[in-house]
Order: sequence, then structure tokens, then C-alpha cells
Amino acid sequence: MKKIVLTGAAGRLGSYLREPLSKMCQEFVSSDIADSVKNLAANETYVKADITDLDAMVALLEGADMVVHFGAIGDEAPMDVLWGPNFYGAYTVWEAAYRNKLRRVVYASSIHAVGMHKKTDFIGIDAPHKPDTFYGLAKCFAEDLASLYWDKRGLESVCMRILSCAQPTNSRAVGTWLSYDDLIHLVERAITTPITGFSVVYGVSNNDRAPVDNAKAHHLGYRPKDNAEQFAAEIYASDGPLDPHDPANTHHGGPFAAVELGNSGLAHLNLGADDTGKD
Ligand SMILES: NC(=O)c1ccc[n+]([C@@H]2O[C@H](COP(=O)([O-])OP(=O)(O)OC[C@H]3O[C@@H](n4cnc5c(N)ncnc54)[C@H](O)[C@@H]3O)[C@@H](O)[C@H]2O)c1
Repeated sequence: MKKIVLTGAAGRLGSYLREPLSKMCQEFVSSDIADSVKNLAANETYVKADITDLDAMVALLEGADMVVHFGAIGDEAPMDVLWGPNFYGAYTVWEAAYRNKLRRVVYASSIHAVGMHKKTDFIGIDAPHKPDTFYGLAKCFAEDLASLYWDKRGLESVCMRILSCAQPTNSRAVGTWLSYDDLIHLVERAITTPITGFSVVYGVSNNDRAPVDNAKAHHLGYRPKDNAEQFAAEIYASDGPLDPHDPANTHHGGPFAAVELGNSGLAHLNLGADDTGKD
């Protein structure tokens, strides 16, 4: 592949993706609103750009084959905070990809697009949208953009509904964990699968207690290897008994299903120290 562009490159997940992505193309462009990123690969350039600026996105994606779109606010927040980066910022990326005739958008969607489904429902990729927050609503919007641009403009996409890509430190993560290695494998499959059309896939490791079903995403060849069961006993012992009536425990969105709209969900997730940013 000639050129791949990564948005959100200075973020936590973007930092894990830069090196493997740089090996998949001749020219790799990292982009974020941050001033810089460290340790550029030999074929990597960094472009500071705001995803809410359509002209900047059109310039950024010039000559690219694919864009891996991870730039966004990664938590629930008031609508006026999310509207630019998470809603309009998705539009600018799909529109810029279309204008530059890219083949595909690989997108970091989220379980929060379907977070109000109950965990006891083993949901597949065709479960109806049921967002748990404005953040989840933005993921629904972007997935619908992906569907629209495929149907009307022939632009392919893979929407990866990531569950929890962080060190597993809480009971929910025993089901929802996506290891960094499996994330990289998933993104590689989203890029290298010859035909994806409009595809949706859950970004989750091979956990015994994974609460979602990827059977209808089999064509992507995503075969995760890691399993959070190795952490289960220790986590359950330290987390103590869980309230079976709390939506944070009973719904796919976890704490996002329980917070008031506009309030942080991540604040209730007890994320570990490695989650402060790799780069
Ligand atoms: N971490 C997870 O478990 C998880 C789960 C589901 C979905 N996701 C999605 O994955 C993506 C990356 O998540 P992360 O955990 O690395 O989050 P992060 O906050 O570490 O990274 C997001 C990056 O987007 C950049 N960004 C924000 N606004 C921007 C703007 N206006 N223009 C350009 N860049 C902007 C930020 O500077 C940041 O570097 C996000 O889209 C998030 O919604 C993550």
C-alpha cells in the first residue's frame, strides 16, 4: 500500500498503532491536534491538523489509499464539546476520503453505539443502535455515515466497535478487554481484507466471557488470541460483589449506561497507570 493516514495518532491507541501501520505502507502520515509525536518511523511524517477543519482533512488525505480514523474525544461530554470532533469530525474524514478517492475508512467505533443493550443479550454486529451517551450517539452517527458513503458513493469502511482497550482492572473488563496485540491484528485485518464494503466488527479479545458475537464479521478474518480469563479471579476478588440492579453492571455500556448525559463515563472505570498515554 502506498500511503496510510492515521488520525488521533498522539492518543493512547494511536500510539500503539503507529509502528505497525508504518510497516504496512510506503508512506505513513500520523496526524493529531497535538503539536507533535515522538519517535517517528523512517517513512512517517507528522501533520498537526484539526479534524473539524474540512479543508485540512482534504489536504491531509491527498494521495492516501486508506485512513485509519481514531481522532475524537474519547469519553462522554456535553454535546457542544463532542459536536465538532466526534460528529462533524467524522463527516470531514469521510467527505475528505471521498473527495480524494480513498478506498477505505477504518474507524474506531465503540460498544457505546449499542451500550443500552443488556449484557445478557449476546448481541451481534446487526444489533440495532442503542447508544448510552452523546459519545455513543456520535459513534452511531459515524457508522451511519459509513453506511451512507458505501451505499451512495462506493467508499468502503470497517467500523470497529472497540469494547475496552486498556489493561483489565475491573469486573467489566473480564468480558470487554481488547488487548493491544489484538487491536493491532484487528486494524491490520480491517486494512488488508480485500473487500469489506460496509463492515462492522466488535473489537474484543478472545475472552471466555466476551458479551458480543462477531460471527457475522467472519469475512474479516479477525481471530483474537488474548483472553482476560487469566485476570478474572484477582479482579473479582478485589472488585467485591456487584449490584445486579445497577445499569453500570447490567448493560453493555458499563458506567456509560449509568451516567447522566454529558458526564464522564471513564471516570468510573478505574483505568490503570499504563492508560495515561504510551508515547
Ligand atoms: N480506548 C478504548 O478502549 C476505546 C474504546 C472504544 C472506542 N475508542 C475510540 O478509539 C479512538 C482512540 O481512543 P483513545 O483511547 O486512544 O483516546 P485518546 O483520547 O487517547 O486519543 C484521541 C486522540 O484524538 C485527538 N483529537 C481530539 N480532538 C481532535 C481534533 N479536533 N482534531 C484532531 N485530533 C483530535 C486527541 O488529541 C487524542 O490524541 C477514539 O475515537 C475513541 O472513541 C477507544
